[in-house]
Amino acid sequence: MKKPKDTIDSSRRRQLIKTGMAVTGGISASLVVASKANAATPDPLITEIQDWNRYLGDGVDARPYGLPSKFETDAVRRDVAWLTADPKASVNFTPLHKLDGIITPNGLCFERHHGGVAEIAPSSHRLMINGLVNNPLVFTMEDLMRFPRENHLYFLECAANTGMEWRGAQLNGCQFTHGMVHNVMYSGVKLKHVLAEAGLKGNAKWLLPEGADASHMTRSIPIEKGLDDCLIVTHMNGEALRPEQGYPLRLVVPGWEGNMWVKWLRRIEVGDKPWHHREETSKYTDLLEDGTARRFTWEMEVKSVITNPSPQAPINHGRGQTVLTGIAWSGYGRVKRVDVSIDGGRNWTTARLDPHSFSKSLHRFYFDFDWDGRELFLQSRAIDEFGHVQPTKNQLRAARGVNSIYHNNSIQTWHVKNDGVVENVEVS
Ligand code: MTE
Ligand code: CO
Repeated sequence: MKKPKDTIDSSRRRQLIKTGMAVTGGISASLVVASKANAATPDPLITEIQDWNRYLGDGVDARPYGLPSKFETDAVRRDVAWLTADPKASVNFTPLHKLDGIITPNGLCFERHHGGVAEIAPSSHRLMINGLVNNPLVFTMEDLMRFPRENHLYFLECAANTGMEWRGAQLNGCQFTHGMVHNVMYSGVKLKHVLAEAGLKGNAKWLLPEGADASHMTRSIPIEKGLDDCLIVTHMNGEALRPEQGYPLRLVVPGWEGNMWVKWLRRIEVGDKPWHHREETSKYTDLLEDGTARRFTWEMEVKSVITNPSPQAPINHGRGQTVLTGIAWSGYGRVKRVDVSIDGGRNWTTARLDPHSFSKSLHRFYFDFDWDGRELFLQSRAIDEFGHVQPTKNQLRAARGVNSIYHNNSIQTWHVKNDGVVENVEVS
């Protein structure tokens, strides 16, 4: 991803808003839906027989591979044209505002490629393990499918997610500000089994996975992580990996930055020190105010975002019972608590965390409240099981400056106006 322009395009710049107003009212614990439905007023959609109720629909032969309803055309990946010069080394974003629960459907997982999508026949794919091993090995896909398999649900977040927001509120929609994350159930083999087959030498300390795509993606990974929870996967959400996600073989590095999850995995070299390649020196490092850089910052820090309401998902139903929802995650483990504020961080209430939660996976939170029609400044703040607390934007800037485009896990603010329209803003 390119570095952002020094000055943000004025048409994109969102106001910096001081929340001098008191928005303390507006929340009630009531869960009763104030329905407008009135059965005494006949609604033709219920009293008249509709076409879909009268005529036969398509048969089972119409869709050998199912697709979403034609009314769901808005639930698509989107890119930002000015972010990258060429779609072959680019990114598109998960439509987080169109999703519920914690699973990202395969067709909506954001894509990040440095050299386009490699199309590889499984019969032509090989994985080599070489370097500091007793027996250098080359596996076919069939060989790999004979190792014991496991299933795990993990989020993948690109280190550049929310990167355009370091210097000010810029992109109007959680799809664009936070959509470089997806959460998938992977099926595959623990990397440690494959490494054991090759036999690690005593001085084996680092791993260098390499992609079979034109970018030859490589990253140095400490051996402890490789022997802990890393997986070599063939399936996502039950079906074979999509080409965009590295078909037929991908490395999964739970909780760590997305760049390390090498797609189209073709080789793992074992070494005794890191390689200091491009993606861990000039990229994916954070230039601090004093001119030094943070390097090897692998875990994705605790983070959350409200997905509804949000700029692409305004409040259309007017005042009254309103469902606020969002996602939270931590590269260290589970999210323990998510707090929500409707007044720009002055007052906080604990949100309801959906009980289906897994370590290093997205968590879903809800906050049901009565909207009285006043403008709101919505924020969410996640806390993980180790006590890490998601920082405000200003706290993050105080610690890291504003030179980075990576590792921005700060609190996001959405401004809900009286008419329900929502905008990306900052509060001070
Ligand atoms: N692996 C290869 N071989 N080539 C790539 O371009 N991009 C990396 C990583 N693995 C990449 C790769 C980056 S920067 C990220 S964020 C993730 O893959 C994106 O994974 P996704 O496309 O499944 O969302
Ligand atoms: Co990335």
